[in-house]
Amino acid sequence: MNVVETVAGMDSARAALSGAVGLVPTMGALHDGHLSLVRKARADSDHVVVSVFVNPTQFGPQEDLQTYPRDMHRDLRLLEAEGVDIVFAPSTGEMYPPGFDEWVEVRGPLTATLEGAFRPQFFRGVTTVVARLLRIVQPHRAYFGEKDAQQLRVVRRMVREQGLPVEIVAMPTVREPDGLAMSSRNAYLSREERRAALVAPRALELAKDMVERGGEKDVARLKQAMERHIRREPLVRIDYIAVTDCETLEELAVIERPALLLLALRVGATRLIDNGLLALDRSP
Ligand code: PAF
Repeated sequence: MNVVETVAGMDSARAALSGAVGLVPTMGALHDGHLSLVRKARADSDHVVVSVFVNPTQFGPQEDLQTYPRDMHRDLRLLEAEGVDIVFAPSTGEMYPPGFDEWVEVRGPLTATLEGAFRPQFFRGVTTVVARLLRIVQPHRAYFGEKDAQQLRVVRRMVREQGLPVEIVAMPTVREPDGLAMSSRNAYLSREERRAALVAPRALELAKDMVERGGEKDVARLKQAMERHIRREPLVRIDYIAVTDCETLEELAVIERPALLLLALRVGATRLIDNGLLALDRSP
């Protein structure tokens, strides 16, 4: 496995590859969710490149850039075991050289709402770094997790708007055995908070059950039930609960077609997101 730390080094490593290239962009602190993307890329492609870069431009001033979990030795061990060809692990100076001014932004409600409303800098940072990674690595496919549902849709939109020749492949959320969605930020949770965080998957299950078995279509009633469930857990605060169109992420008042339920919670100081599909039961 080749570990490349400069853009020039990545350019020449890329030039030496022939056949299909898959890119898995990550911020490191890898878990099974990341590894499911790597395995899919491995199955689809002749060569797999994984980027490991904690991207400062997607963090707000009050966020966890300094404390974001980093463990390059462990990440490299895991990636080597998955048969990754190249790990691209640039410094901040390589990704954002002096005078950098190639900001890539998707405008409109897709980036202004939900995560965009709580983290105003987030999507501009993500689209800028992902566009730069795609231009450097020039993969045929790039892999993203469905846990970051809004990020996935924003990246797809960005790729379309920028005319980048890459297929964006989405993979399902990977969960712990008790249902908590895997996230590098789960490492922040104390034992008590880890237990409290289970209200996220349980609230999603509750909503799924109400819609799919109970036939509930009214979003206000659904949210009320979820809020009641979550508020029983004193360590947890709700940033948002939203039921949206699956593609545009525009909020719905009534569920008449499959919808996406998105959730952002604070468990102590840790912010967690999760989501699930709501499909009305069509059985007679
Ligand atoms: O999802 C992430 O880990 C990051 O937002 C990404 C896509 C690697 C961009 O920094």
